[in-house]
Amino acid sequence: MPNVAVIGSQWGDEGKGKIVDWLSKKADVIVRFQGGHNAGHTLVVNNITYKLKLLPSGIIRKNKISIIGNGVVIDPWALLDEIKQIEKLGIKITKKNLYIAENATLILPLHKELDGIREDSKSTEKIGTTRRGIGPAYEDKVGRRGIRLMDLTSKKNLSNRIDMILFHHDSIRKGLGKDKINKKKLIKDLLKISPKILKYSQPVWKKIEQLKKKNKTILFEGAQGVLLDIDHGTYPFVTSSNTVVGAAYTGTGCGSNTIDYILGIVKAYTTRVGEGPFPTELRNKIGKIIGEKGNEFGTVTNRKRRCGWFDAVLVKQSCIVSGINGIALTKIDVLDQFKDLYVCIGYKLNGKKIDYLPAALTDQFKLKPIYKRLNGWLENTKGIKQWKNLPKNAKNYVNFIKKYCGVKISSISTSPRREDTILLKNPFKKI
Ligand code: IMP
Repeated sequence: MPNVAVIGSQWGDEGKGKIVDWLSKKADVIVRFQGGHNAGHTLVVNNITYKLKLLPSGIIRKNKISIIGNGVVIDPWALLDEIKQIEKLGIKITKKNLYIAENATLILPLHKELDGIREDSKSTEKIGTTRRGIGPAYEDKVGRRGIRLMDLTSKKNLSNRIDMILFHHDSIRKGLGKDKINKKKLIKDLLKISPKILKYSQPVWKKIEQLKKKNKTILFEGAQGVLLDIDHGTYPFVTSSNTVVGAAYTGTGCGSNTIDYILGIVKAYTTRVGEGPFPTELRNKIGKIIGEKGNEFGTVTNRKRRCGWFDAVLVKQSCIVSGINGIALTKIDVLDQFKDLYVCIGYKLNGKKIDYLPAALTDQFKLKPIYKRLNGWLENTKGIKQWKNLPKNAKNYVNFIKKYCGVKISSISTSPRREDTILLKNPFKKI
C-alpha cells in the first residue's frame, strides 16, 4: 500500500485528528516529523477520549509502531507526562511500539521560560505562541547548541553541551534581568528522567528503512498547517518548523522516495489562533456563529479561534508548496445555515489585483479579499456519508474549491464522528 503524508493546509486545526485516526487504523507505522507539544488532537476510540500532543496517533492502537522523528522538538517532561496519562487509559507504551529519534532536539525549561518572557514583553511583537518553548528550542537546534536526546547518555558530554547552551542563554538572561540558569540542577533533573526516555531512543532513519523493506505502510502525521510554515507561512506569525511535506523527509531521514500520496486537510472555512494576518477574518456575527457551531477552541491552549470565509487563494498556494495530491475537506456541516457563502479568489493590494500571498507582512495585513459569492444550501448535511446525498449547492461549493485549487477532493467530513465521512478516494488505495 502507498505511504501517505497528512498535511494541514491552512493555519492548523483543520480537523486532522479525525482523518489521521481513520488512516492510522489502516497504517502499520505512524510518524510525527515536526513541531512538538504545541500540536494537539483528541481521538475518541471505543468511547474513550485520548488527548495526544507529542505521541503519534498510532499509539492508541494495538500492533502499530509510533515514531517521533528527529524534526520534532521534545519536552521530555511533557512527553513522560503524556505517556503516563495515556497509560492510565489502558494503553501500553514500550520500546516495541514507540521509537524516538536519538538525534531529536530537547525542549528545556529555559526555552519555555524564554517563550513566555517574549510573549509577555511589551517591547516585542506578540506572536501568540503556545508558550511551550517551541521557537527557542528550534533556534538552539539551528544555532548548533541544542541538547539532543543522545546527549543524555553521558554525564560528561551532557555537561559540555549544557555549557554551550548556557553560554548563550545566560547572556540573554542577563540582558533580561533574569538569574543565571542553575547548571547543576538542570543536569540533575535531566539525568533523573533520562533512563525513562532513552529506552525509546533509536536511529529512526534506519528503523524506517527496515520497515520499508518489510513493506509496512507508513503514515506521516503533520502538525500545524502550511500557513504556519517558517518559510512559506505568514512570517513572523508562524511556528518555528517547516510544516510542508518536505519536513517529513528531513524530520525522519526516510528518503525522498518514501511518500506516495500527500493528503492536505482543509477546513470548509478558515480559522487561526494567535496573532497575525487573516484576510478573510469575520469579526462579526457570522464569525461568531461559525466559531460556536464549529466548536473553534484550541485543543492545547483553549484559546478562541478566529474564524472567516474560505480563502481559496491560500489553500491553492498551500497545495502547490506542499505538493498536495488530494484534499480532505472537513466541517462542511458548519456552513449549513448560511444563505450566502463567500470564497476568496484573489486580493486587492494597493489598488492592484493579486492571486497569491505576498511575502511582506505589511502587505499581508493590507490585503482586501475579492470574493466569489456562492449559494448556501440551507439543509442539514450532518452525518451524510454519500456524495449523492449532499445538497446540490453543497456539491457546487466543493466542486468550486476543487476547480480553483486544482486538486481532487479525496473525502468530505460531515461531523466529528469518524463514520460521518464521504469517501471519494482512499489515499491508501493504489494511485
Ligand atoms: P508556537 O508553535 O507555540 O511557537 O506558536 C506559533 C504560532 O503557531 C502561534 O500563532 C500558535 O497559535 C500557532 N500554533 C502552534 N501550534 C499550533 C497548532 O497545533 N494549531 C494551530 N496553531 C498552532
